[in-house]
Formats: sequence, C-alpha cells, structure tokens
Amino acid sequence: MLYLIGIGFGKKDINLNSLETAKKCDKLYLENYTSKGCGAKDFERIFGKKIEKLDRDNVESDFLVKESKEKNIGLLVYGDCLFATTHVSLILDAKKEDVDVEIVHNNSVFNYLGDIGLSIYNYGKIGSITFDFKVDTPYNILKDNLKINAHTLFLLDLDVKNNKYLSGNDGLKYLFDKGMKDRLVVGCCALGTKEKVIKVGMAKELLNYKFDKYPQCLIIPSDKLHFIEEEALNNFK
Ligand SMILES: C[S@@+](CC[C@H](N)C(=O)[O-])C[C@H]1O[C@@H](n2cnc3c(N)ncnc32)[C@H](O)[C@@H]1O
Repeated sequence: MLYLIGIGFGKKDINLNSLETAKKCDKLYLENYTSKGCGAKDFERIFGKKIEKLDRDNVESDFLVKESKEKNIGLLVYGDCLFATTHVSLILDAKKEDVDVEIVHNNSVFNYLGDIGLSIYNYGKIGSITFDFKVDTPYNILKDNLKINAHTLFLLDLDVKNNKYLSGNDGLKYLFDKGMKDRLVVGCCALGTKEKVIKVGMAKELLNYKFDKYPQCLIIPSDKLHFIEEEALNNFK
C-alpha cells in the first residue's frame, strides 16, 4: 500500500490522520524538492520513525510503487501532497501495478493565500517563475490574467538540495525585465509558519524589500479590486 501524506509546513500542521497514517507505515520517505518545511528530524520525532529523503529522480521512478507492493510505504510531502506536485502520476502508476493508494491531505500554500484577503474566485491562471529568466510564459500569463481582471499567483522556483530559492525580489526583477509597469503587488514568505511575511506595496518599492524567509510567492492583484479585497490588502502595507 502506498500512502501519500501531506504534512503542511509546520509541526503543528500534523493532523490526526497524517499522524496515524505515518505511524502505520513500514517505511517513511520525505519528498522535499517541491517545497520546504521544518525538516525531517522534527517529523522523525513526531512519527517515531526514521525518515529517508527522496529526490525527484527517485519519486518519479518506479521505486515507490515497487516498494509498496510488499510494504506499507508513506511518502511525506510538504503542503498538500497533490497541490502543485506531479504526484498524481504515482497514483496512476500504482493503479497499473494493482497497488492501493491512500491520500492524506493537508494545508497547502493555497490555503494560506486566504490570509491575504484576495478572493480565490478572482484568481486567474497560476504562473511559475523559474531560474531561467529567458522564458516568456510567466509574463504572458500575467498579461492574459490582467485582460480578464484576474489576480495572478506566481510560484517561485526552488532547488532545496542546493539551497537555492528565488525571492519575491527576483520575481519582480523578472517581471520588470519583461515589461511590467509599476503596480501593486503582494510578496509572501514562509506562509503557514511562524516566520510568515505578507507585504503589500508598489512593485518598485518592494523590489528592494528584504524578503528573506523561504519559500516565497508573489501575487499581482488585478486592476479591479472588490472593496473588501482593497481593505484587506491595506492591512499588509
Ligand atoms: C510546487 S509548489 C508545491 C506546493 C505544495 N505541495 C503545497 O501544497 O503547498 C511550491 C511553490 O509554492 C510556493 N510555496 C510553497 N510553500 C510556500 C510557503 N510556505 N510560503 C510561500 N510560498 C510557498 C513557492 O513559490 C514554491 O516554489
């Protein structure tokens, strides 16, 4: 049996379901390349088991499904195990091999976006700004979203293994390079943790703001804000 277990971002995100599921697994792995949280050691203490970190190559190979044929295998994933991950492929591969899968959801970065006060109904397509600043796709997503008065969430690339993270400042640099004019933006760091930062301001002003906790994301609100959204954003200026 394969268990995909979302673990949120802080120790206190562990709910009864993730705790009980992790405890019944013969072996636990931590997928830590799609986000960053409090670290394997804390989870080893909570679950009372050794946890092995897995990189992308292993998660995306047949390794986990093969192991799950013989044992109860748990894959711990920061945030929610299926939000902005490719782990649905594991479910599909397991089905082909007659391996049962159980999914344990948890808080995702998308839950914490609620703190900002922009209505989820008003977001458009999500973009990802990657380490490769040559690509136009993220900027095109912003342009398309603005045309339909939708907010744009940009996820910012990370390379946990090499401790490299794009910051909100990097994201703004990319957008200015592509031609974005100065406008209201929201920078977020380490949502769902005690180190969380939400800062609202004009992009030029925030270009040099010290966004120094990771991971981070960037939101570009649409030009048309509901008055409740406007009031909520004012709390973070
Ligand atoms: C590929 S998504 C993985 C999402 C994860 N599975 C979840 O449910 O939250 C990772 C991206 O989301 C954003 N992100 C993840 N955790 C975050 C956090 N705690 N605060 C701000 N942004 C975060 C970053 O831009 C990061 O590169």
